[in-house]
Amino acid sequence: MDVFIQKFHSGWAYIALVLLVIAVVNAFIGFTAKKEFTAKDRKIAIFGLIGTHTQLLIGLVLYFVSDKAFSAYSQVGFGGVMHNSGLRLTAMEHPLINIIAITLITIGWSKHKKLTTSESKFKTFTIFYGLGLVLILSRIPWSLWFQ
Ligand code: HEM
Repeated sequence: MDVFIQKFHSGWAYIALVLLVIAVVNAFIGFTAKKEFTAKDRKIAIFGLIGTHTQLLIGLVLYFVSDKAFSAYSQVGFGGVMHNSGLRLTAMEHPLINIIAITLITIGWSKHKKLTTSESKFKTFTIFYGLGLVLILSRIPWSLWFQ
């Protein structure tokens, strides 16, 4: 179970990141080229939202089954986790920063619905999805991923 969830989270990360990058690039091109916001653009944005939300759900389960997350606090204590950069990343920074990132992405999605111009919709997606992407990339456990 532990290994299945870990592999699922590891594999879904590719899908979530590809969908998010496509959504950010599409929004940026739409904004700079002053394109009209169409149903296709909405679809691209919702796929970015669904991809990251799915990863969030898998991540939340993983947090409680992995030995490098919640259970690490009872094994080595809060100080032990904070003094170990690998554990600090998987038990604190990666989950926390990703939850903030996915919240920003969700805010971007909600905000776009209230906006009326194509320019403002593309701009909102560029900023909120873009910030979310940067935050996610800043806290990926790369060494675990490409082990
Ligand atoms: C879009 C957001 C996220 C992405 C792209 C992502 C990606 C990844 C990747 C690539 C790894 C390394 C996997 C491996 O060992 O091969 C990982 C590990 C991990 N992630 Fe995430 N993650 C995301 C969100 C979250 C969230 C929200 C949580 C928890 C609430 C979480 C919890 C964890 C934990 C605990 C590990 C370490 C698991 C272990 O190796 O035992 N992740 N994540």
